[in-house]
Amino acid sequence: MNALFDELRRTEFSRLDAGGHVYLDYTGGGLYGESQIRAHADMLMTQVLGNPHSQNPTSLASTRNVLHARERIHQFFEADPEEYEVIFTLNASGALKLIGESYPWGVGSRYMMTADNHNSVNGIREFAKAKGATIEYLPLNRELRAENLENLLPTVDRSKPHLFAFPAQSNFSGVKHYLDWVELGHSRGYDVLLDAAAYVPTNRLSLREIHPDFMSVSFYKMFGFPTGVGALLVRREMIDKLHRPWFAGGTVKFVSAQNKMHLLATSGEGFEDGTLNYLSIAAIANGLDFLEQVGMENIHAHVAGYTEMLLNELLALHHTNGNPLIKLYGPPNMNMRGGTVAFNLTTPDGNLVDSYEIEKRANGENISVRTGCFCNPGAAEFAFNYLPDETYQCFSTIHPDQFTVQQFSTCMNHLPVGAVRASSGIATNDHDVQRLIAFVSTFIDFVPASDKVWQMPVENS
Ligand SMILES: Cc1ncc(COP(=O)(O)O)c(C=O)c1O
Repeated sequence: MNALFDELRRTEFSRLDAGGHVYLDYTGGGLYGESQIRAHADMLMTQVLGNPHSQNPTSLASTRNVLHARERIHQFFEADPEEYEVIFTLNASGALKLIGESYPWGVGSRYMMTADNHNSVNGIREFAKAKGATIEYLPLNRELRAENLENLLPTVDRSKPHLFAFPAQSNFSGVKHYLDWVELGHSRGYDVLLDAAAYVPTNRLSLREIHPDFMSVSFYKMFGFPTGVGALLVRREMIDKLHRPWFAGGTVKFVSAQNKMHLLATSGEGFEDGTLNYLSIAAIANGLDFLEQVGMENIHAHVAGYTEMLLNELLALHHTNGNPLIKLYGPPNMNMRGGTVAFNLTTPDGNLVDSYEIEKRANGENISVRTGCFCNPGAAEFAFNYLPDETYQCFSTIHPDQFTVQQFSTCMNHLPVGAVRASSGIATNDHDVQRLIAFVSTFIDFVPASDKVWQMPVENS
């Protein structure tokens, strides 16, 4: 299999080596294969494509491309078109916002989430709160997994709408959550939102096997190009339950200015505002073909192999006094985890090096990793073992205009406010992992300036 991926690195991702890049931010964004771009450019150079809202030849050509993209998405996720509708959005966040604003929240409904969630899932709570719903988070354990859901997910009154949301894979820790929670949620009376944005780039997901009511994805995370297109896969029967709070061009069957009336489209089109990004949507089939040509099982095994190598090599690093160099957040092995590894580097006396300092030095070596909390504050709060009262105190005492994460850290007695995230993907090779390990090793016995040191969080119990 190495031969397959070595060949891909040479033929599809040669720009990495040409530019001397170590790219380890696949959870941030996937990389496109060069053949995807050639195929897309060929299409743009040969087809004449018009706005799909008309019925003229160029408009119909765009409509065919969009239909083909929808069909390929159904096939790729093994989603029965009778059961699921594909709604195109700007990105996964756009898909999640559609749910938030359209879900029939009300007094007595509940929005239940794992603490491990991207901010775009957390953000739905603002719509829920505004309509009087209650909001609850399920806690994480030391490995940043939600556990014991059988006992923690309460059964709810089915006469009201309730939503349970979790990510198939954490964008913070790489933890894979159990997909059978979809059925658990249903059996307890919830509609279920599965945020699959971080999972589907390296794992096969079949909507024949699980049946979430909503699933969000961003295509650039799966295959790099195009950006600006995501999708909400939604069970058709759920569409009747949703209500868009506005209308736009393309979302309506009829509008009257005279009578201030409108009739929303009853299909998924009622959720696709304005003109679709029809040129970019036409590139989606190429991207899905690319993943299938390489093989999702191969990609999965490739990423798992490099993640294991990265974990083992990072965890083997120590200062000369014997203290570990790495403070890892999340599972230390490959049990139910994907290719995202979050960690901080320690000082010889057992504190942490400010992650922004690490980013600065990594940039100097052309190594692309991510630092911060990765838009996943719940996982970060458990990883850094924040106490809710202390967080509340610091959050409410720092004036919003003066708020910086450094100031927040100072207020939190110098607890960390960021980690380093290295994530592998389709083009990762030995060289990338070894360059990262060599870079990280330069922090052995390193004593940073006192204002670049964070306190080691106490182990979460
Ligand atoms: C798990 C998860 N959900 C949602 C998102 C939001 O995706 P986007 O920024 O493409 O809207 C991300 C992005 O990192 C993610 O990792």
